[in-house]
Amino acid sequence: MTFTMSDEWRRLRADTPGASHVVHFNNAGAALMPGPVVDAMQKHLQLEAETGGYEAVRARSDEIAEIYSNVAATIGARADNIALTANATDAYARALSSIPFKPGDVVVAVWSEYASNQIQLLSLQKRCGIRIVRAPALASGQTDLNALDAVIKEHRPRLVVAVHVNTSAGIVDDVVGIGAVCRRHDVLYMVDGCQSFGQMPIDVEEIACDFFSATSRKFLRGPRGAGMLYISDRALSEGLEPLFLDLRGAELEDENLYHSVQGAKRFEDWEFSYATLFGFGAAAAYANKIGLDRIEARLANVNTYLRDCLQRLPGWRVLDEGVGACPIIPIHAAAGDGAAIHRRLCEQRINTTYIPKMWAPMDKRLVDAGWAIRISPHYYNSPSDMDVLLEELGDAVS
Ligand SMILES: Cc1ncc(COP(=O)(O)O)c(C=O)c1O
Repeated sequence: MTFTMSDEWRRLRADTPGASHVVHFNNAGAALMPGPVVDAMQKHLQLEAETGGYEAVRARSDEIAEIYSNVAATIGARADNIALTANATDAYARALSSIPFKPGDVVVAVWSEYASNQIQLLSLQKRCGIRIVRAPALASGQTDLNALDAVIKEHRPRLVVAVHVNTSAGIVDDVVGIGAVCRRHDVLYMVDGCQSFGQMPIDVEEIACDFFSATSRKFLRGPRGAGMLYISDRALSEGLEPLFLDLRGAELEDENLYHSVQGAKRFEDWEFSYATLFGFGAAAAYANKIGLDRIEARLANVNTYLRDCLQRLPGWRVLDEGVGACPIIPIHAAAGDGAAIHRRLCEQRINTTYIPKMWAPMDKRLVDAGWAIRISPHYYNSPSDMDVLLEELGDAVS
């Protein structure tokens, strides 16, 4: 199998300043930002420095509205349904806090729930007495829809939570199928799309979710410190609002009365790093311009090639089967010390993530192995990046 790069992908690589400094296989952590994203942030910072932070926002209100449209377009939503947040976990917490749970209410969660989300659910369990019920998975790691149906019939949950793409394995869950089951039973449905956002076309209408949380810095290639929450019309019209609103999400009529605002802004804070938001919007516009379907197709090639090479690399084992062509590849070397190998890769400016088992305690393969190095390529990785990575990984265990 060979790996080539057409002129188009070469151009996008050339648009990525970091690609000439590091070999970056850490896109599931934080991708390298393209030039226009960095420019967008610098431009706004400069304006803030020259005119003042509040004044800069006033001067650019139309462009701020475009950030929402660009972010919304990546998931097939309307701008009115998007709240901008500090990160995906923040978005998830705002959504969870908006549901008025009572003691005994059930939340059905998939096996691959992200650790921070699981901590939030456990905290709710401690404080509000909810019960967490796990939805069974198929051998592939995707949610078993028949079993989910049965679990919902038995437990009548208040909420179902799913993860579109797992953090520790390249598994794309059937979020559309899960959505159909939830709609059939009229259950609130929340999707963590942190790892799918920016790497594939997403249509929240088709998924039929009430909430979809994501972050700017991963496959979308935006800056750190920004995230987003989609809230469906249904959830908004039910009047769901986060537990703690500020004067962005609500108006204080008198000292005893507030009214929450219409639309998704109810889920936002007043204060933002606007330079970061401009970077987020630029990253969304950049991905939309390339086309998320084309990004997905390119990532499928990148993933197939790299998985094949890693599967054949002596001393290493790929821990998952990679359902759905997703370029998140966890690898393990029985004879190696994962943390030391990761340090060695860092010294060579080869960026990956070291995942200890406590990052994903529900991922049985990871727990059995004890650790993984997560390799997460993007469309801008070159054949030479692949060679450097494979050679260094080979040397690390030889
Ligand atoms: C699946 C998944 N969900 C949520 C998060 C949390 O994202 P953030 O750090 O932006 O809160 C991550 C981060 O790696 C993730 O992989």
